[in-house]
Amino acid sequence: MRISINEIKDMKQKGEKITMLTAYDYITAGIIDEVGVPLTLVGDSLGMVVLGYPSTIPVTIDEMLHHTKAVVRGTGRTIVIGDMPFMTYSNISDAQRNAARFIQEAGAQTVKLEGGVNMAETVRSIVSCGIPVMGHIGLTPQSINQLGGFKVQGKSDEAAARLLEDARALEQAGAFAVVLETVPAPLATLITRTISIPTIGIGAGVGCDGQVQVISDILGLFTDFVPKHAKQYARLAEASRAAITEYVREVKDGTFPTEQQSFSMDESILDRLTK
Ligand code: KIV
Repeated sequence: MRISINEIKDMKQKGEKITMLTAYDYITAGIIDEVGVPLTLVGDSLGMVVLGYPSTIPVTIDEMLHHTKAVVRGTGRTIVIGDMPFMTYSNISDAQRNAARFIQEAGAQTVKLEGGVNMAETVRSIVSCGIPVMGHIGLTPQSINQLGGFKVQGKSDEAAARLLEDARALEQAGAFAVVLETVPAPLATLITRTISIPTIGIGAGVGCDGQVQVISDILGLFTDFVPKHAKQYARLAEASRAAITEYVREVKDGTFPTEQQSFSMDESILDRLTK
């Protein structure tokens, strides 16, 4: 049985930290589920991490649904959150229809979308269909062209007040939680104390109710760039490189496969075949 959004809300009340990770495939999602992570986001970071796009903007709803289905198939406990891609919720009817696709076609339990005050009506309309919504404010990568780059948000008086306003608007619109991305830690703490729904931080300090990380960042799958907000808990790129190099060497020098990886047969059949 899957965890419910009420259990996530209760975790805030009890002061229990909430963990969330991204997943894009069956096998990784299965490990995340097995460890007991309560929130699994099929992020549109899929575009950059798995599909090799330069940003999240080219990601389509069909790509998101395809990967969300795999994550749902790999999990049984965690809440699966489908991330609504760029321009799939720019008006209420698209938003409702596309949010419903994540739930009905892909089997996700909730959706996430970027925006605060400007998206409050949209959030309310999706929630009114019975679909739980997670908000996402601060650095919102789908608006990167408007934000002018990957910069810390909420640093000036007005920007900080706007972020607080955004968080309140999402709470009032019925969002069950909100991601705070790349926000100064003291501001994220203030927002966390002000609103009743859980805040999930990424680059927003330890004062949030929970933390989200991109799975490839914590597993060390990329070595050329590690975002400041990320910590590598493993170095899977290095381990994979070493494993693949050894495989190539063993195939070339004939030490793989051995008898252990091969199948035998009755030799008399061969004798008869070659007579
Ligand atoms: O797409 C994503 O992975 C996200 C997280 C960084 C919150 O939105």
